[in-house]
Amino acid sequence: MNKIVFPNEISGAENLQQQFEPYGWYAEMRKNSPVHYDEKQQVWNVFLYPDVERVLTDYHLFSSDTGKRIAGSLALKEKGITEMDPPDHGKRRALYTKAFSTRTLQEWEPRIQEISRHLLEEVKEKQSIRILGDLATPMPVIVIADLLGVPSSDWMLFKQWSDVLITSGTRETYEDITLKKEEIMKEMAVYLSPIIQEKRENPAKDFLSDLTQTEYKGQKLSDREIIDIAISLLLAGNVTTSTLLFSVFYCFLLDRPGVYRELRDNPELVDQAIEEVLRFRPPAQVLMRKVQEDTDMFGSLMKKGEIVMAWLGSANRDENTFAQGDQFDIHRPNSNKHLSFGKGCHLCLGAPLSRLEAKVMLTEMLKCYSDISIGGFENDLILHVTRD
Ligand code: HEM
Repeated sequence: MNKIVFPNEISGAENLQQQFEPYGWYAEMRKNSPVHYDEKQQVWNVFLYPDVERVLTDYHLFSSDTGKRIAGSLALKEKGITEMDPPDHGKRRALYTKAFSTRTLQEWEPRIQEISRHLLEEVKEKQSIRILGDLATPMPVIVIADLLGVPSSDWMLFKQWSDVLITSGTRETYEDITLKKEEIMKEMAVYLSPIIQEKRENPAKDFLSDLTQTEYKGQKLSDREIIDIAISLLLAGNVTTSTLLFSVFYCFLLDRPGVYRELRDNPELVDQAIEEVLRFRPPAQVLMRKVQEDTDMFGSLMKKGEIVMAWLGSANRDENTFAQGDQFDIHRPNSNKHLSFGKGCHLCLGAPLSRLEAKVMLTEMLKCYSDISIGGFENDLILHVTRD
């Protein structure tokens, strides 16, 4: 059986553009083959909202400890939080939960405002902005550097590392990429080790300091364990949040032109607009689980040990849950039922933080610019901006 699962080989997406637009394929699968076995990858795929929800929430039947990886995800030395099932998962999650409560969201907000104002200040003389390059890429990395307690001036370094770590590549390039990732992880360990030492001696109010003080299974965490957790956070929260910020502007300009102006007149709609972006273009499209005992609950026999891919991006467009699911509509009453942050015991811990980043960035943009329009695409979305 394959150790690595390549979702693009299941969906047939051949390039980035097709990966960003899998929704036609999802609609076809929901209609014609909602529970589908992919012979080449040897995995089950579920596309309907109730089925995806069931796979994510029923950890007795669908384990996160799959023994496999989705291409692009990382093999850490120890099992990561997303590969664990209860009860071990709960103990590991408690480590993260504590760190996330080090600062409350109210405490984060002024710092996130400061970061987004600074980024907007940098482009203030320009008539056009690169969404990824100028805003959506730096913002989450700076926030995570802050959260960990490493100098945020090193964000470029973090960004370079995370770019390599999230590369999925193809079957042909996979081995080369894996070697490169191992190199980067060594580099990160060299960078983080002295910082962790310093935090052990002089703990501050940050995530790394917390981890040096915390006990897990009766023992303090080793440097290696702390480094793995730091890397996992960098990965979990970086590209996902960048993609969300990018998608905000993509949806407002291409999926439903006119939304930006509507929000400028009605800024109280910002939160629900962001929920609809999350539903419509989820940054993570698919999650993986392993069947724990034979089941035919979805109408086909899934055998113990087989893999199930739960397609979040398809569930979010399921017409039986979201009327006219393929329409972007910020007035939709139930956008927040989306599964973009997962569901059940693994529900994303960074969800409130990334929602806040999107809200602050968008609110600051609305204050600065009376209108925005598309300036073009050059490996990025370029916006023409009109100041007040
Ligand atoms: C828009 C941005 C984000 C999206 C779409 C997203 C998505 C997800 C999803 C789908 C899961 C569930 C994985 C599973 O069930 O196997 C997850 C888990 C997780 N996310 Fe996020 N995430 C985002 C931002 C963040 C941020 C900013 C952080 C931290 C700084 C973060 C940290 C985590 C952690 C630690 C978990 C593991 C929780 C567990 O297994 O109990 N995420 N995320």
